[in-house]
Amino acid sequence: MSPDQARSDDVADPADFYTGLVAEAYSALRSHAFDPERYAAFVRAQGQPGLEVGCGAGEPLLHLVRDGLDVDGVDSSSDMIRRARAEARRQGLDVGLHVARMEEMDLGRQYRSIYLAGPTFELLPDDDLALRALEVFRRHLSPGGTIMVPLWIAEPTPAVQLGVPREAVDDDGTVLRYTALSEEYDPARRTRRTAVTYERIPTVGPPEVVDRLWVIHWQTRQTIADLAARAGLAVREVDPPSAPGDCEPGEPGEEFTAFLTHA
Ligand SMILES: C[S@@+](CC[C@H](N)C(=O)[O-])C[C@H]1O[C@@H](n2cnc3c(N)ncnc32)[C@H](O)[C@@H]1O
Repeated sequence: MSPDQARSDDVADPADFYTGLVAEAYSALRSHAFDPERYAAFVRAQGQPGLEVGCGAGEPLLHLVRDGLDVDGVDSSSDMIRRARAEARRQGLDVGLHVARMEEMDLGRQYRSIYLAGPTFELLPDDDLALRALEVFRRHLSPGGTIMVPLWIAEPTPAVQLGVPREAVDDDGTVLRYTALSEEYDPARRTRRTAVTYERIPTVGPPEVVDRLWVIHWQTRQTIADLAARAGLAVREVDPPSAPGDCEPGEPGEEFTAFLTHA
């Protein structure tokens, strides 16, 4: 690192991970695309209005709004919501966007469909916050409504990927770079903590570097059912259901979705 390179480790709270340089780099460096149709089908089937929790910069939310669905978005990062607002304006869309933490939000509206796109629920770093979030979801859920919670049994980042940067280049030649550096993987606590670095390297001037800790606290079919019950919710369905003989914690890398209703 050159001496004039700005380096910071400015965020301790997991709800603030997607801020500053990370918010700027997130969409460009994202390793996967969302399938908007999956979430649109959920909202069409379960009813409107819908709420996307952790909507970030607006994917897949704005796609649903463009399709004529009445869906609001909420995110803890004002930087991500600013990007979503700019994109909504660019597309001429009218959408309710809120800055709030999912475990604290009070949006003054109830929803037939509440969903997270991908395993965003696992950004809540412990079960106490996960329980508070489910209680808040229940208060925002209309009678007869459904909550969709995609989940993932986190697997360790392969050792060969540690230290290997992923890059994207802006229209003006600026390089955005993400590197996972090291990781603690703790199955007993269902927690993976990855030290990551984001870099912004302009064609002129010093690079900007941000070090952050990316925390995933994963849920199993059993732990989400237990938390849901404590929050006054019930698991209506898990897709796919576990097959007889499958071990309860699930296999690292396994993905499933829990559908929750009022108990
Ligand atoms: C993986 S990103 C997905 C964002 C969005 N789907 C997109 O592509 O722009 C997860 C989002 O969850 C948000 N988030 C993390 N913790 C949160 C919390 N406690 N409450 C609300 N949002 C949260 C982050 O700010 C981030 O925007």
